[in-house]
Amino acid sequence: ETELIHMFKGIPFTTRSSLELLKSLDTFDAREDDVLLGSYPKSGTHWLAGVITKLYNTPITLTSPIEFGDVSKLEELNKLSSKRIIPTHLDYNMLPSNFKNKNCKMIYISRNPKDTAVSMYHYYRENPHLPTVDTWTAFFDLFLEGDVVCGSWFDHFLSWEEHKNDKNILFLFYEDMKKDLPKIVKEISVFLDIDISDDDIQDICKKSSFSEMKNNTEKENSDPSHTVCALTSNRKLIFRKGTVGDWKNHFTPKQNLKFEEIFNEKMKLSKMAKRLTYEF
Ligand code: A3P
Repeated sequence: ETELIHMFKGIPFTTRSSLELLKSLDTFDAREDDVLLGSYPKSGTHWLAGVITKLYNTPITLTSPIEFGDVSKLEELNKLSSKRIIPTHLDYNMLPSNFKNKNCKMIYISRNPKDTAVSMYHYYRENPHLPTVDTWTAFFDLFLEGDVVCGSWFDHFLSWEEHKNDKNILFLFYEDMKKDLPKIVKEISVFLDIDISDDDIQDICKKSSFSEMKNNTEKENSDPSHTVCALTSNRKLIFRKGTVGDWKNHFTPKQNLKFEEIFNEKMKLSKMAKRLTYEF
């Protein structure tokens, strides 16, 4: 069996991210007008990317994740002449330093980690690029230990939250998008300096609903180079349920207690923890 996961700087990565590429990331030539979309897997990356590509009325390229592919990747991104929207599951500390030096705009989306864990469990079950997990119980423990692809949810979130006051980073929450998408789309457009009418916002929201996105994906032929998640190029695996609170259908009361105990401990200094726990 070919290896699906390898370690880089103590974090499990998919082997779809070559070690040579991971090692060379810091040499990447960021441009001032690049926009980074940061997320831990299963936080709403595709949803956010869908919204953003519809917002622009000027040419942009939504690239595949910066950490996806082999060492030729950085050269390939260099060749793009249009503005680049670049997704990534890297934690903040691993971002190419050029993005930081050049103050590039970044949008970080996160989601109640209980729902993220459940979504990731199903992704592990369906995605041939991820190791086999037999049961939810087994996956639950792996998730809390950070023994999953992209490492610990807590470390990832906290690495980004450390930059919550940076003017070039916008923090978004999946649950807020579910609650009032037009409001968040407006917020994104202001952050990205895009002029857009309320009618256009309504239209974008309609086209970005779970059912619209799922239906469109079923119709299209997926292009493997057009992924926004390094863990798969198959968009059909992405649109599973799209709801808030599905963890309640999976967590036992005992698991819930354990999860909250660890959450409270790891997040005790977090100012944004409350935004993630509406549905705890
Ligand atoms: P579920 O597995 O809970 O359904 P990512 O894009 O980061 O991989 O996140 C995938 C999760 O976002 C999946 O969650 C998926 O269903 C959900 N999602 C994708 N598009 C969505 C949309 N338009 N509205 C709501 N949820 C969406």
